[in-house]
Amino acid sequence: MTAKIIDGKKTAQKILDELKKKVEKLEVKPSLAVIIVGENPASKIYVKNKVKKASEIGFNSVLKELKEDTTKEELLSVLKKLNNDKNINGILLQLPLPKHLNKEDFLDEILPIKDVDGFNTHNAGKLFKGEIPYAIPCTPKGIITLLKEEKIPLEGKAVLVIGRSNIVGKPIAALLLKENATVIQAHSKTKNLSELTKLADIIVSATGNPNTVIGENIKEGAILIDVGIIRGEDAKLRGDIDFNSCVEKASYITPVPGGVGPMTIANLMINTYDLFKLQQEAKE
Ligand code: GUN
Repeated sequence: MTAKIIDGKKTAQKILDELKKKVEKLEVKPSLAVIIVGENPASKIYVKNKVKKASEIGFNSVLKELKEDTTKEELLSVLKKLNNDKNINGILLQLPLPKHLNKEDFLDEILPIKDVDGFNTHNAGKLFKGEIPYAIPCTPKGIITLLKEEKIPLEGKAVLVIGRSNIVGKPIAALLLKENATVIQAHSKTKNLSELTKLADIIVSATGNPNTVIGENIKEGAILIDVGIIRGEDAKLRGDIDFNSCVEKASYITPVPGGVGPMTIANLMINTYDLFKLQQEAKE
């Protein structure tokens, strides 16, 4: 069997094209504020792309680049201003933060209705209760969209999630449970991961470690979703999943780049638009 390569770039573009058309019809445009603290090179590229994409589809966007030595008080004050700014609909605090800042001190400061990542306790709590949050984290939401786009059934399927971050691992597990999948959650302390990868119908790998999943340890026909983005010494991007050894055995696989990554940014735009609409409705 040769796997079908799931084209996240194409699906993301379709979503963005549709959204752009909706935005063109609006008199007042949605606004996204993106905050980055410090000099993490990968984060700097991500935030520039987020702001660029927001502008391309017609949103207003603000990028706040704060110094590495920004204090807790300074960052809290920036968040407070954005919360109080009626012209800002979505606030994104890029993670990771520099070591002296604890993300938990800030994520809950963002108003839930402006929490475009869906990372604060209100929105994460709603998601874990199976209720509808203001926003669902962008990468997990994108994964579900890709699986649905391919009409891959989830009910009763054994889905192995590798990773337990609040950004991907935990929310994707919650979303898969909502789809009635049988979710197995593995993480860095899991023993005998290969026994789990061998039995999974679907694997979502979000570890940031190359070769977390290799061909000899997957089931024939497995569906593989790769959330890793690793820049190798050759400057090439690769994922957690060894594409070459898996592509002949899996039934579907997401490539890196061009799989899950573009869906994250597309969903950030969708979330910004949805929050904008909710805020407009709240005003009426
Ligand atoms: N760092 C890595 N992924 C993300 C994300 O989706 N949102 C934010 N805010 N930070 C991240």
